[in-house]
Amino acid sequence: MPQPLTASPSARLSGRACVPGDKSISHRALILGALATGHTRITGLLEAEDVMATAKAVAALGAEITRSNGAFEVRGQGVGGLRAPSAALDFGNSGTGSRLMLGVVAGHDMQVKFTGDASLRRRPMGRVLAPLTAMGLQADGEAERATLPLVVRGTQDLLPIVYDLPVPSAQVKSAILLAGMHAPGRTTIVEPLATRDHTERMLAYFGGEVEIEDRGQGARAVTVCGDAELHGAAISVPGDPSSAAFMIAAALISPGSDIVVESVLMNPTRSGFIETLREMGASIEVLDRRHEGGEPVGDLRVRASALRGVSVPAERAPSMIDEYPVLACVAAFAEGETRMQGLAELKLKESDRLSATAAGLAACGVVAHVEGDDLTVEGGRGVKGGGLVATHMDHRVAMAFLTLGLGAANPVTVDDISMIATSFPGFAPLMTRLGAQLQ
Ligand code: S3P
Repeated sequence: MPQPLTASPSARLSGRACVPGDKSISHRALILGALATGHTRITGLLEAEDVMATAKAVAALGAEITRSNGAFEVRGQGVGGLRAPSAALDFGNSGTGSRLMLGVVAGHDMQVKFTGDASLRRRPMGRVLAPLTAMGLQADGEAERATLPLVVRGTQDLLPIVYDLPVPSAQVKSAILLAGMHAPGRTTIVEPLATRDHTERMLAYFGGEVEIEDRGQGARAVTVCGDAELHGAAISVPGDPSSAAFMIAAALISPGSDIVVESVLMNPTRSGFIETLREMGASIEVLDRRHEGGEPVGDLRVRASALRGVSVPAERAPSMIDEYPVLACVAAFAEGETRMQGLAELKLKESDRLSATAAGLAACGVVAHVEGDDLTVEGGRGVKGGGLVATHMDHRVAMAFLTLGLGAANPVTVDDISMIATSFPGFAPLMTRLGAQLQ
């Protein structure tokens, strides 16, 4: 049963809030914990459906996972030490969980069926199967057009490769790095633009050998040395900047707002949204910069701001790929035009976010157009709201348009909020505590 929710124009937002743990880092902490020897203790793990699907998958493969005193303990089986599961692995809505785990299974002599929900079953798996089959993974059907459900067979005799990523994707890079941990020698991935580097950071943190080489113009080569041992470690997961994005956006567009979002991950490979908002004139101050678990973290003070439209270059896309729907909503409140370029990857997310965002804006009376891979939003004409937005099983589309509704002239309803639980359980109560009107 779809669960609709309505956001109404809100008074000022105020107070302090802590966003849940970063989704990308949470998946990786469970997976690397399973591949390490000894214990990994994870605090601040994101307890959302996507991450819990990964936890179930690594448990089905033989890692022991327990939860005590608010922390997750993983007893790993060592690199190459997992065993065949007794049933299919179901990753629900999660592209990250399924793609990274394909890299892990590649290095084990076992046959595994991967499946997921209707949204995940539409998403391309060929991008991970191409490099993984070159390393020795066997997959049924034609790798190019592969989608879940999928049966794959891994091998203990995986080959290391050098792979030029055709698209900037941290999921593909990470799948190859995880497979590379199971291959003898050096596996290198060359990425055209730097994508989120949590796998590299965490592998090094667990004692793996990782080299990073700057190839100029944003490109870099990441090399992992295989057959090395990983050692369990303590990890504290910082707040997810992609979840913080909705609070930041809501405060910027609700006049008089002044909030602090605590312990947000400040990794430069994830900071494109903040950089763009600052160019638009947003008042965002970083308080108390520090490091937690190998990652930079800070508290963000955000005040309502008069914004102006900007042009967002295509090269910035990997560092803010999940934030475009909410950026497009913020752009509706900015004076002038905001042009977001190079959004091809947005069409392949939990939904086709490029068209879902454009359609949502139109439903809210905002003029926006898609030309090729670019999205342009005409701001400063008032945001009428009043519309019903179709979320297409996409958590970020739902949260982006609820955020827009807080600043619009009339309430905005999204057709279904059930998918928000995949990344940000507690979104509505947290926003309400800051002063948002959500019913
Ligand atoms: C992620 C990488 C990105 C991002 C996703 C999480 C990750 O996907 O959109 O939400 O944790 O590696 P792509 O690798 O498809 O760009």
